[in-house]
Amino acid sequence: MKKVIHIVGARPNFMKVAPIHRAISARTSLQQLVIHTGQHYDAKMSDVFFADLGLPPPEIHLGIGSGSHAEQTAKMMVEMERVFLKEKPDLVSVVGDVNSTIAAALVTSKLAIPLSHVEAGLRSFERHQPEEINRVVTDRLSDLLLTPSRDADANLLKEGIDPKYIHLVGNVMIDSLLSSKEKADQLPTLKTLGLTPKGYVVATLHRPSNVDNPKLLAGLLGVLMDVAKELPVVFPVHPRTRKMIAEQGLGPKLEQTPGLKLVDPMGYLEFLSVTSQAKLVMTDSGGLQEETTALNVPCLTMREQTERPITVEVGSNEVVGTDPARIREAANRVLSGDFKKGRVPELWDGRTGERIADLYSRFLGVEVKRAFG
Ligand code: UD1
Repeated sequence: MKKVIHIVGARPNFMKVAPIHRAISARTSLQQLVIHTGQHYDAKMSDVFFADLGLPPPEIHLGIGSGSHAEQTAKMMVEMERVFLKEKPDLVSVVGDVNSTIAAALVTSKLAIPLSHVEAGLRSFERHQPEEINRVVTDRLSDLLLTPSRDADANLLKEGIDPKYIHLVGNVMIDSLLSSKEKADQLPTLKTLGLTPKGYVVATLHRPSNVDNPKLLAGLLGVLMDVAKELPVVFPVHPRTRKMIAEQGLGPKLEQTPGLKLVDPMGYLEFLSVTSQAKLVMTDSGGLQEETTALNVPCLTMREQTERPITVEVGSNEVVGTDPARIREAANRVLSGDFKKGRVPELWDGRTGERIADLYSRFLGVEVKRAFG
């Protein structure tokens, strides 16, 4: 029996692997194993997502944890090599752009095991970002490059990648969103937080380039405090950001701002229940730019660039940079009802997991059972 190994490690990986795993079980006779590197380990950054997404617990947990980039990536590589040599997978499937992704890509390709990268071809063209390095290297090493949108295909072709390796499959994260929406809508999260539909803003911040820079962080938090004067702002705080807020002594000021609700990181369903009914989302996350596009909720991205331009060209996203005055102006515009209407991009249709399962079957010479769809 042919074997596929999926690698997960950090929060944005789980919602991408769950639909692929489900479709492989339903449609193919492939054997599959999930390896969790342990890059994210807090229950709120990891365990809750397995439960929310119906993804079975990982068969293998490497327990790596945090560290410098070299330390974390190297530890993951040593452990993965050991597991791959024992398990002998026929294909390793990686998603996204986190350190777990690049670690798996390096080990897989050096062991001459076929490698598939889901979410290939995205580029911010900012080489100082760790995620951009992870994307470029992983794509270079992959045998299957599965892209979410045509701009990603174009980036890969420009880098000289043979078109025969590139497959436009759509956005797998949107499979999770569409299949979870009904369940999320039934949660009492808004009530618990004292919010009303379209009567609040959701904010997230976690990029090192924003939160590890004290001046920038203070400016961005200042905008959130300002916006909170007009509408309540729900701000689930990432552990990296919480640490920086504490180091900079900004906690008390934030906690005392009426309307600004600092909360712990939320589970997948809980977070979807708040984003889907928000008046506005303000973020520096990659995934959230896509989720708001799928939900047609206005999104302001507090970064200089996006690796997901389709969310701006087609969807409901606007890249507003990190200058507080510019962000404030854009937020005012949205809150006064002046914002573009987005559309949902091609193939963000909830069936990307199925397309990937079929592709893996064909690649490995295994018949597709087509149990559904
Ligand atoms: C990682 C990804 C980033 C992704 C983000 C989503 C890389 C290079 N970065 O960034 O692309 O958008 O995940 O969340 O892979 N920590 C905890 N508990 C945890 C995990 C982390 O407290 O469960 C703290 C630790 O202090 C750690 C810090 O957060 O040092 C950063 O974690 P790390 O995994 O290195 O990077 P993220 O900022 O989470």
